[in-house]
Amino acid sequence: MKSDNGVPSHIAIIMDGNGRWAKKRLLPRSFGHREGVKTIDRIADEVFTLGVRYLTIFAFSTENWNRPEQEVTGLLGLFRKYLKSNEPKLLKRGIKLNVLGSRRAFDDELRTLVDEVCEHTSCGKVGTLNICFDYGGRADIVEAVNEFVEAGVKADEETFAERLQTHGMPDPDIIIRTGGEHRISNFLLYQSAYSELFFTDTLWPDFSGEEIKNIIAEYRKKDRRFGRINEE
Ligand code: IPE
Ligand code: IPE
Ligand code: MG
Repeated sequence: MKSDNGVPSHIAIIMDGNGRWAKKRLLPRSFGHREGVKTIDRIADEVFTLGVRYLTIFAFSTENWNRPEQEVTGLLGLFRKYLKSNEPKLLKRGIKLNVLGSRRAFDDELRTLVDEVCEHTSCGKVGTLNICFDYGGRADIVEAVNEFVEAGVKADEETFAERLQTHGMPDPDIIIRTGGEHRISNFLLYQSAYSELFFTDTLWPDFSGEEIKNIIAEYRKKDRRFGRINEE
């Protein structure tokens, strides 16, 4: 959904390449993750200033639990730190925070923290930042299916979308993956039906405001047909 000035309403990003960024510098992977958190601020500032309404970032997939325990603990720690230190900034900028994904594996403290920051920022009118943590596109779909089964009602495309974690939001206009891989890795599977996909070799910690501006400029040139044909 393009707004009148061609600015996308919703950008989603698979933030990949933190580990390789660190490896190139002979540093532990955790350094890459720490550096990657800084990129989030940079990119959020850029896109919300441009007038994008929704930014969805993939921080931790349902499959990322299979990484070594030390890395998982480190990523949970960074997530906790991000939530603790960013509330004032989000409030000041009018950004509403949502955390998408299952919270079942979080400890009580993290669950409370997530709830609090989401609630405190819920009045943000400038834009919405969705952090996908313990998120999987398949899990999102399966949970929705089960809700319909339990309620004993049939779904249609609209009511189904309203049961997904992104309910009430437009589908992503743009999905960007940094880090050079050309795959979706279980991100927004249902919601990406007509997203414009952009892949860049840039590793996430190096991703810049300039690069996302260039991607948006490319996006604005696209002819989004949604299955139709354009009559001249
Ligand atoms: C992305 O960076 C962040 C997460 C998946 C948590 P990676 O950690 O996947 O970095 P690479 O792909 O190994 O370089
Ligand atoms: C995708 O990156 C998940 C996130 C960015 C959170 P991965 O590094 O986990 O994906 P694969 O393993 O390369 O597909
Ligand atoms: Mg990766």
